[in-house]
Amino acid sequence: MNDLRAAAEAARARAYAPYSGFHVGAALETAEGIIVAGCNVENASYGLTICAERNAVAAAVQLGARQFTRLALVTDAPVPVSPCGACRQVLLEFGGDLVIESYAGDEVLRWTARELLPAGFTGDVLS
Ligand code: THU
Repeated sequence: MNDLRAAAEAARARAYAPYSGFHVGAALETAEGIIVAGCNVENASYGLTICAERNAVAAAVQLGARQFTRLALVTDAPVPVSPCGACRQVLLEFGGDLVIESYAGDEVLRWTARELLPAGFTGDVLS
C-alpha cells in the first residue's frame, strides 16, 4: 500500500462517526512532500459534521501548507467513493490540478479537483 493511502487508512481508523457508522479517512500530500491526514468528525447536531477531506485541508493549512499534489480517500464502502459537493468546493480552493485518489480494496478512481467541480466558483472573481 502506498504511504498516502496508508495515512488515509490510519485516519479512517480514528474517525468519529457514531451516527452514520461510516468511517472516512483522507490524506493530503503537500508540495513539500509532507502527508497530512483527516477523518470525519460527526456531531449530534448532524449538520455540523465535518468530512474527512475538509479536516485534512484544515490540518494542513494550520501547518503552513497551501500547495497540495494528491489527496487519498478511503471509506467503509466496498467501492471507491467520490467527495461530497462541499469538499469539492474546498479542495478546488487550493487548485484545480489537485489529484484525488479514491481507494477501495484493489480499486482506485482518480480525478482532478477541476474534474470533480467543473465551472466551480473560485476567488478569481473577488478581487
Ligand atoms: N463523509 C466524508 O467524510 N467525506 C465524504 O466525501 C462523504 C461523506 C462523511 C460525512 C459523514 O460523517 C459520513 O461520511 C456519512 O455521510
